[in-house]
Amino acid sequence: MADRYLRFTGTAPGRFLSGRLGLPQPTALRRWSPEHPDLVGPVLRLTAGAPRPDDATGTEPVPGAPDAPAAAAPAAVVLDATGVCEPAALHDAYAALHPVVRSLAPCGRVVVLGAVPDPADPHQAAAQQALEGFVRSLGKEIGRGRTVQLLRLAPGAAAESTLCFLLSPKSAYVSGQVIEIGPAAPVVPAVSTAASGTRIALVTGAARGIGESVAATLARDGHHVVCLDVPQAEEALADVARRLGGTALALDITAPDAGERIAAALPDGLDVLVHNAGITRDRKLANMAADRWDSVLDVNLGSVVRTTDHLLKSGTLNDGGRIVATASISGVAGNAGQTNYAASKAGVIGFVRALATDPRTTGHGITVNAVAPGFIETKMTAAVPLFIREAGRRMNSLGQGGLPVDVAETIAWFADPGSGGVTGQVVRVCGQSLLGA
Ligand SMILES: NC(=O)c1ccc[n+]([C@@H]2O[C@H](COP(=O)([O-])OP(=O)(O)OC[C@H]3O[C@@H](n4cnc5c(N)ncnc54)[C@H](O)[C@@H]3O)[C@@H](O)[C@H]2O)c1
Repeated sequence: MADRYLRFTGTAPGRFLSGRLGLPQPTALRRWSPEHPDLVGPVLRLTAGAPRPDDATGTEPVPGAPDAPAAAAPAAVVLDATGVCEPAALHDAYAALHPVVRSLAPCGRVVVLGAVPDPADPHQAAAQQALEGFVRSLGKEIGRGRTVQLLRLAPGAAAESTLCFLLSPKSAYVSGQVIEIGPAAPVVPAVSTAASGTRIALVTGAARGIGESVAATLARDGHHVVCLDVPQAEEALADVARRLGGTALALDITAPDAGERIAAALPDGLDVLVHNAGITRDRKLANMAADRWDSVLDVNLGSVVRTTDHLLKSGTLNDGGRIVATASISGVAGNAGQTNYAASKAGVIGFVRALATDPRTTGHGITVNAVAPGFIETKMTAAVPLFIREAGRRMNSLGQGGLPVDVAETIAWFADPGSGGVTGQVVRVCGQSLLGA
């Protein structure tokens, strides 16, 4: 559904009127397109604390942002705060960003590089944890479509694909996130082990909404996409698969033999598994019939666990594979009328975190992550009553709802062969929603 208010405030009279009335003035976000694949402007690289001997940011200039005249407003600021080991050194973070933050271009990026808080070093842990509060607060105040993230780099972290994502228009609706990056998994898949050499992705719930956008984005990135959805959606599913040069698989993901049927449809194995299918059946607990509880838990969580287990056990997931599941900010924050949905999505988060340390994945270089979308403009949210919908759209640092492509781009970053150091992460695609922040 179109966000008419965002369009209105994008016009001169709209800007004038909303400014006079003190209403929110969201900035139209700059998203990735083939014509505009990069942020425009220079990237400032700053340091706080003692400089480190090795430089985890990797390259100069930072990937994803081309050089630009030094006089132009910076498109991004990357602050290396990994050397902030004492509370007193936090002053350096303030001193580095204070003079430049105002000059950052609209839709610009601030990425703070931190270290993983060390429980054996309370001073370092205090200083590094402080960066989280700093980043989350800056994200809330910086405005004009700009985003702020904290990347925690473990020793030997493989951060390049993550920096490419965060310093590009692909991460337009991701803000206030804390992401931990480890060393690359031992198996780094250059290409699929499939005979064709093309990486194979499976997306559940691909007939429409976010799933359709995920399938399109993975196809853009060179995957052969197997699009799965319920038999009732077969026609729309076939259209999507045809358009993307992929394959349609009409199947109810809750079927007892779903894992077997998926494995049978993937003779070359699978490189990227995206659990996107999901349903809501909202009611307050006191009014909720058992079938509403059971169906939501089974589609959103039970089927995710069962099919993942089967695809790992059957060896269908290729070494270096990627598993991405779809949670929700409801699963982080809870939501009235959604005890079933929030339980299922919180369960997804628990599953992902545990599976990321399970030898079935770590032993094969398979990463496991979750996206947690906030308010995304889809048919699902278009059906929400007007006032609740408006509140959902505006109650975040970017003052607007996200688009399906924002979730899809985040999944594509997790799916990237270069993202082997990103596992066990839950990244909210919510414009830094106030819910559960
Ligand atoms: N739209 C949002 O704002 C939002 C917010 C947070 C999380 N999410 C999550 O994102 C995912 C996609 O949401 P959406 O808004 O695109 O929803 P949607 O209802 O538009 O699409 C979901 C798709 O999943 C399919 N599906 C449902 N049950 C299935 C089953 N048993 N087997 C196979 N396919 C099945 C549906 O047919 C549909 O095509 C869901 O997991 C949802 O919970 C969405």
